[in-house]
Amino acid sequence: PILTCSLMSLSFATGSASAATNSEYSLKFNATNYTTKTITVDGQSVTYRAYENIVYVKNPVDINYETMNVYVPEEYFQGKSIGSYTADTAPIFFPNQVGGYMPAQPGSTETGKGMGMGAGPQNGAPKTDKESEAAPGADTGTELNKPAAGKDENAGTPSSESPSAIAVALSKGYVVASPGARGRTTKDEKGVYTGKAPAAIVDLKAAVRYLRFNDDIMPGDAEKIISNGTSAGGALSALLGATGNNAEYEPYLEAIGAADERDDVFAVSAYTPITNLDNADAAYEWQFNGINTYEKLDFSGNTDFNMERTLVEGTLTENQIQVSNELEAMFPEYVNSLGLTNTDGTALKMDADGNGTFKDYIKAFVIASAQKALKSGTDLSDKTWITIENGTVTDIDYDQYLAYLGRMKLPGAFDGLDLSNGENDLFGTANVAAQHFTQFGLEHDTAGGTLADQNLVKMMNPMNYISTEGTTTTNNWRIRMGTKDSDTSLAVSTILATELENKGSNVDFAMAWDIPHSGDYDLDELFAWADKVSA
Ligand code: DHB
Repeated sequence: PILTCSLMSLSFATGSASAATNSEYSLKFNATNYTTKTITVDGQSVTYRAYENIVYVKNPVDINYETMNVYVPEEYFQGKSIGSYTADTAPIFFPNQVGGYMPAQPGSTETGKGMGMGAGPQNGAPKTDKESEAAPGADTGTELNKPAAGKDENAGTPSSESPSAIAVALSKGYVVASPGARGRTTKDEKGVYTGKAPAAIVDLKAAVRYLRFNDDIMPGDAEKIISNGTSAGGALSALLGATGNNAEYEPYLEAIGAADERDDVFAVSAYTPITNLDNADAAYEWQFNGINTYEKLDFSGNTDFNMERTLVEGTLTENQIQVSNELEAMFPEYVNSLGLTNTDGTALKMDADGNGTFKDYIKAFVIASAQKALKSGTDLSDKTWITIENGTVTDIDYDQYLAYLGRMKLPGAFDGLDLSNGENDLFGTANVAAQHFTQFGLEHDTAGGTLADQNLVKMMNPMNYISTEGTTTTNNWRIRMGTKDSDTSLAVSTILATELENKGSNVDFAMAWDIPHSGDYDLDELFAWADKVSA
């Protein structure tokens, strides 16, 4: 990072970052500030230059998170190409590490994930600025930074069995730029929240703008940015792809000193996006109404897919069943209002009981997923609810499939009536930890909660922006959701994918057989898609 004022760096180093100062971080990429490193990916040695902890805005609110790690294959500095890519044409793989709408540090080649708090900058590059030696300030957001059980022992030695997406991207000739972002627990030294909605999407847009601002002096093509993320990170990836250049985000970008550039991206990969939050409660109850037992995470308000998951069993109360019924009843009107169609033009509709072409459509994705698994040799014989005839999956018993999938969340699954969900936290304010973000949540509130600014709720939902006027929605999408993922309804990804497709985008959407809530599990296919759309 290039710092233009040592006063500011001093205050950051001591953990009191907000001193009024005119100093700004430079938006210009410093091509000389790198370390050369080598990793092994599938037996192949990959040498690259690591530019780490680059602050990507002039006036960061939190330098622990508004930073980016950039990795460039060494070949590109020798005038060589990798496959069909050169320093000028290589796409930029842009994976965020956000989970649970928590703050996230940039991903690194060492861990594939954000660096743990206290690890300090990993960059051994010649440091021209003392401040980059400083340990991250004593910020909050520590929940994310507690290393996940069993993860930290692997730090620095990425497993050879499952190389990270970042490592694989480099091995295939992509430039990698992994952005950090503020999240729902980020606070300043006064205890004021600084990462509530829309901070995380604003930060990702700012990072995109930084790449465009420096396109001429950085290897990689900033017109070929391929965003990637999982869960909340998948939702942000989708939001990034849907909302390119929309003016509603502009004041927030100006406030942090983002480069004055376009922020649309070229392509989006999203795994199990926890998105469309204001309709996700109804979608969840449409799917799980009638399934009254659950296995929920044993910590509340802190869901993070990086963490080991411990589940506790329980049964819905009469009151919760009533809430489920009410939410379920709201879903058909929403689905029908979208006017979605199948590729053959069939209207995707829902009757008052939740049945109809939309449900058949979702079921068809589950069947296609089972069929693909069967074809690749997966033994499905223990799943008695699947009908297989002559090597073809001809049907599933949808209710039995849902019972197998299992409920994980209580109604409302996202807008918690007692404000205890991570999403309530996402829609807090500078001074209020958590709020409701749906009218239903407010009306059924049990905790004295208030309602979030509806404009901010709008700005977190990609559905509101897809191919609308004044917005550059990317054409290239890859969306995946596992058939054993009950963190949100299958309808959420399906609706997003279908809306995009209906509005003219090129969407590769499929459900991954028996995969639980996770991402990056099919890197060969992911990069085959990325190569294809980039060509
Ligand atoms: C994530 C998981 C959730 O269940 C949720 O509600 C929000 C985010 C996640 O893994 O990022």
